[in-house]
Amino acid sequence: MNHFISKDGELFCEQVAVAEIACQVGTPVYIYSKATLTRHFQAFDEAFASIRHLTCFAVKACSNIAILNLFAGLGGGSDIVSGGELYRALRAGVDPRRIIYSGVGKTEAELRYALESNILLFNVESAQELERLQQVARSMGVAAPVSFRINPDVDPHTHAYISTGLAKNKFGIPIAEALALYIQAEGMEHIAVQGVSCHIGSQLTLIAPFIEALYKLKLFVKKLADSGIVIQYIDLGGGVGITYNDEQPPHPQEYGEAIIKELQGVDATIIFEPGRVLVGNAGILVTEVQYTKTNQGLEAAKKFVVVDAAMNDLTRPSLYGAYHAIAPVRATAAALEVVDIVGPICETGDFLAKDRALPAVAQGDLLAVMSAGAYGFSMSSNYNSRPRVAEVLVDGNQYHIIRQRESLADLINGEQIP
Ligand code: LLP
Repeated sequence: MNHFISKDGELFCEQVAVAEIACQVGTPVYIYSKATLTRHFQAFDEAFASIRHLTCFAVKACSNIAILNLFAGLGGGSDIVSGGELYRALRAGVDPRRIIYSGVGKTEAELRYALESNILLFNVESAQELERLQQVARSMGVAAPVSFRINPDVDPHTHAYISTGLAKNKFGIPIAEALALYIQAEGMEHIAVQGVSCHIGSQLTLIAPFIEALYKLKLFVKKLADSGIVIQYIDLGGGVGITYNDEQPPHPQEYGEAIIKELQGVDATIIFEPGRVLVGNAGILVTEVQYTKTNQGLEAAKKFVVVDAAMNDLTRPSLYGAYHAIAPVRATAAALEVVDIVGPICETGDFLAKDRALPAVAQGDLLAVMSAGAYGFSMSSNYNSRPRVAEVLVDGNQYHIIRQRESLADLINGEQIP
């Protein structure tokens, strides 16, 4: 359930007309609904109300500090994967004791910054990272709190680029090698072993892979206990999918019930790292039609709708072949046409939708690209020297610009001619 609703054929975000925001702030623009973000956080968090847990929003999904601040105010923490995300989380007011740090390539400077910030846990992904963390912690005279990310070799049945828990993926430590590493870490003076973690992939629409991974993790935790290693945290990662088109992902409640059932008899604080499920359907990208054109081919004519948003603003269709529903902001009675909705970037791979049935549109019409809240703005770039777009947060009958549209001067900020 989200708060992007059509009233008399006009798209609203909560009580604000989307066209009004586009008129005032310009296009393209990302628009998020505060009520939807709040509702999604609470639905997820409340699914685990009966167990000791911590919900750490995956910052990579939507990194604006206003959004991080909103979740922090609801009791959430952050799952970060870089020094930059740590900076954002801290600036947003996230309690460092609710920040966990994942990722395969943490640099020495990043490890130091996170240790100085006193974060809750490092999800360590290799023996070399453990060694480096120990060295940095030693130089600072502290002990680093560690959880190892286990690769359970489970198939999440999702897009190959966003599967992370298979042996062939770069992530985590093979379960068969993990015990030796835990025993080694227990003997390290500047490492404090505290947990075990895993993340098997993103946009999962089935519960079974999560349960399979948890089952393997449980057996492993038992093995650890048999070796005298008792852990306090089990981190189950993120990954719950959303509906973009006709997918039927589990509701957080259903996911929660299945996980809690499988956790019977486990004594630990459970950490979650949800990203997409909290923000995906809480944000849209609004774009304006610039031109319509038809290219006559040998076999058939091809219709294009050229809009002012492009693959640099929303890269998911180009990168993963992802589907995003697209609809006119003001409904029309125009007949449906099959079109490609494309951006101004000089690549054939620059499209938001291909062969899509859309009511005939004209120059100046506004289109809403739905389900764009996750991995939308956060993956955007300046490619083709396009300033990154504005972000707006709607709250009831008000809206706030939470990121200004970049200026032309921003484009060359930091550049110099020698
Ligand atoms: N934790 C870790 C360690 C992760 O790697 C990820 C996502 C998450 C949590 C959050 O997963 P979520 O709940 O959002 O599924 N750019 C891609 C998605 C990449 C996901 C990478 N890892 C997309 O647009 O579909």
